Amino acid sequence: MADVRSSFSAPRVRSSVSAPRVRSAVITGASRGLGLASAARLYRDGWHVVAAMRSVDSGMKALRELTGAREGDPRLIGTPLDLTDAASVTAAAKTITEAVGAPYALVHNAGISAAGMVEETPADLWERMFATSIFGPVLLTKELLPSMRAAGTGRIVLVSSQGGVRGMPATAPYSAVKGALERWGESMAGEVAPFGIGVTVVVTGTYDTEIITDAGTTDCRDLDGPYARHHRTMDKRGRAAMRMAARSPDKFAAGLAKALESSKPFVKTAIGPDARMLLIANRVLPSAGLHQMTRLMLGIPRFGALRGQGRSDG
Ligand SMILES: NC(=O)c1ccc[n+]([C@@H]2O[C@H](COP(=O)([O-])OP(=O)(O)OC[C@H]3O[C@@H](n4cnc5c(N)ncnc54)[C@H](OP(=O)(O)O)[C@@H]3O)[C@@H](O)[C@H]2O)c1
Repeated sequence: MADVRSSFSAPRVRSSVSAPRVRSAVITGASRGLGLASAARLYRDGWHVVAAMRSVDSGMKALRELTGAREGDPRLIGTPLDLTDAASVTAAAKTITEAVGAPYALVHNAGISAAGMVEETPADLWERMFATSIFGPVLLTKELLPSMRAAGTGRIVLVSSQGGVRGMPATAPYSAVKGALERWGESMAGEVAPFGIGVTVVVTGTYDTEIITDAGTTDCRDLDGPYARHHRTMDKRGRAAMRMAARSPDKFAAGLAKALESSKPFVKTAIGPDARMLLIANRVLPSAGLHQMTRLMLGIPRFGALRGQGRSDG
């Protein structure tokens, strides 16, 4: 007679350790720069990545080259997204939901920059800036929040800038949208926290991407106009400082990956030493002191120095 013990397979013990769940992250502006580096980093870390971008073909090619992912890898999905086009945002939200259900992380990274004084910057640039960094991201968030609320977990990350902490001269529209982004994040954090969703505002330092180059910025400056004197020193000093401070986008991606591990309802964090320094200075220095410090650093003439030179010829 066969040993009865051998006819029984080992009792199936239900493991108390469940298989780790693959978390999904949506990253906007994943075609290049910080978004590309972050999407690649999260993919390598095992996330299910939805890379949202305007040029999916070239962006996904770049992502596959960076990660070694094969075409059709279900853990790396591209979706078209133009944040200035409401129909594109709604369609992207649908693709995201169909692909991953409720995303765990929604990283609002896409952005544009512009150089020029308020007087030099046309109204349509302000509109494009707000459409890209506020209206489009708000709509995408509204589309995805119902599923995220139902899931009862998640994190929304808003990629801000030092310009969002302090308004910087010659970047008023950019500083304005980043400031608005931060206030939006603070407000929303109070709303979504009870549903288990956290919000992180990332104050980004200086990184070596196109946005800090002439080619990657809309240039509205009038170098011969009434602000010519400002531009002369700001151009030289600003660029030199940026060149010195700029770090690899991979360092930003590492910081973002860490930020996504937070379980706090609201976090405002710096990624990069220059951003960290600014947050400290902003806390300890009065606003008037920071104004003076910025003026001196950028070589902007003192109060009233250009009086009489601002009259128009007409
Ligand atoms: N690099 C820095 O030093 C720095 C510092 C502070 C903050 N940041 C912030 O970091 C974020 C990423 O910037 P980056 O340095 O990676 O700049 P970047 O290299 O110029 O990349 C910008 C990204 O935004 C995308 N984008 C622009 N307009 C869009 C639109 N209408 N719809 C969808 N995507 C759009 C671009 O897509 P396309 O390829 O289609 O143009 C690109 O993927 C931005 O929010 C920026 O303000 C960067």
